Amino acid sequence: MVRSAAVVGAGVMGHGIAQLFAQAGALVRLQDADEGRLAAGLRALEQSLALLAEEGVISPADAAGARARVRPTTDLDTALAGAEVVVEAIPEVLEAKLDLFDRVERVVEAETIVASNTSSLPVSQLSRRARHPGRMVILHFFNPAQLVPLVEVVPHPSMPPATVERVLETMRRLGKRPVRLRREVPGFVANRLQAALVREAFHLVELGVAAPEDVDAVVTEGPGFRWPFVGPIETADLGGLDTWQRVLDNLAPELSTARGAPEALRAAVARGDLGAKTGRGLYDHAGRPVAERLRQRDRALIRLAKLKRE
Ligand SMILES: NC(=O)c1ccc[n+]([C@@H]2O[C@H](COP(=O)([O-])OP(=O)(O)OC[C@H]3O[C@@H](n4cnc5c(N)ncnc54)[C@H](O)[C@@H]3O)[C@@H](O)[C@H]2O)c1
Repeated sequence: MVRSAAVVGAGVMGHGIAQLFAQAGALVRLQDADEGRLAAGLRALEQSLALLAEEGVISPADAAGARARVRPTTDLDTALAGAEVVVEAIPEVLEAKLDLFDRVERVVEAETIVASNTSSLPVSQLSRRARHPGRMVILHFFNPAQLVPLVEVVPHPSMPPATVERVLETMRRLGKRPVRLRREVPGFVANRLQAALVREAFHLVELGVAAPEDVDAVVTEGPGFRWPFVGPIETADLGGLDTWQRVLDNLAPELSTARGAPEALRAAVARGDLGAKTGRGLYDHAGRPVAERLRQRDRALIRLAKLKRE
C-alpha cells in the first residue's frame, strides 16, 4: 500500500480524496494554493471522519488516526516531497493543470504515479508536455469522493501493465471499485451515461410529458431503485435480450439516429444468447443460478425500501 500521497487542491473533491488515503493508513499532504480553501477543506474532512464514526463505520480512534495523517500545506514542494502518488484536484482548466504537472515533474521521483481527477480532459492532452507520460493516469472520483465507491481509471497508453495493476490495487486498498477504461473517450463511462439520462430528463420536461419532480421520481422510484444492485446491462440480461431487442427496435429511432437495437444486443440474440433464460447473454450466467441471483436482488431491494422509509 502507498505510504505517502499528495493531493493538490483541497476543494469539493480534494479533501475527500485525501481522506481516503489517510483512512487507508497513508501519510497525506493536502495542498491548496489558497489558505482559506485549505482550512475549509480540512474542516470538511474532519466533519466527514466524525460522521463516519457517528455512523459506526469507523471507530473514533481510527477517525483521529486518519486526521493525524493529513498534513495541510500551501507549499507545493513540501506537499510533493517523497509522495508515491500525486492526485491533482484543481479546477478543470487545461493550462492550469499542465502548469501544475510541469512543476510536479520537476520534483517527484521517476516511479511516482501522477494522477488527475479531471472530469472531462483526456489523458493524451493532460500528458501533452510530460517527459514521462507513462506514469500519468486519470483517477476519476465521484463527489463525495470519500463515500462513492467508483473510480474510473484511464491510464496513459504507455503506462506499463504492472504500473496499471499497482494503480488499480491502490484504489482497491482505498476501498474503491476501480473500473479501468480500455481507451479514452470524452466523459469516460459514468458521465456519458449520466449525460444521456439528464439530456432526456430535461427533454421530457420541455415536451411537457411530466413535471421535473415526477421525472426525478421515475428515476429514484423506478430504474434507479434497482440500479444500486443490478446495472442496465444485467437488467436486460435478466429480463430477456429478445424482449429488449424488440423494445429498442421500437424506441431507438425515436431517441437517436440509430435504426434499431444496438449491434451487440442484436448479435447476442442472433446467436440464441437471450440472457438468464438461456444461461448466457452479455453475462455468462453459468454457475450463477438465476433464482439465487433474483433472490439476492430482492432481499437487497427490500432492505433498500426500508432504508428509504427511514
Ligand atoms: N465537483 C465534482 O463533482 C467533481 C467530480 C469529479 C471530478 N471533478 C474534477 O475535480 C477537479 C476539482 O474539482 P472541485 O470540484 O474539487 O473544484 P474546487 O473549485 O472545489 O476546488 C479546487 C481547489 O483547487 C485550488 N487550486 C486552484 N489552483 C490551484 C493550484 N494551481 N495549486 C493548488 N491548488 C489550486 C482552489 O483553491 C480550490 O480550493 C476538477 O478537475 C473537476 O472537474 C469534480
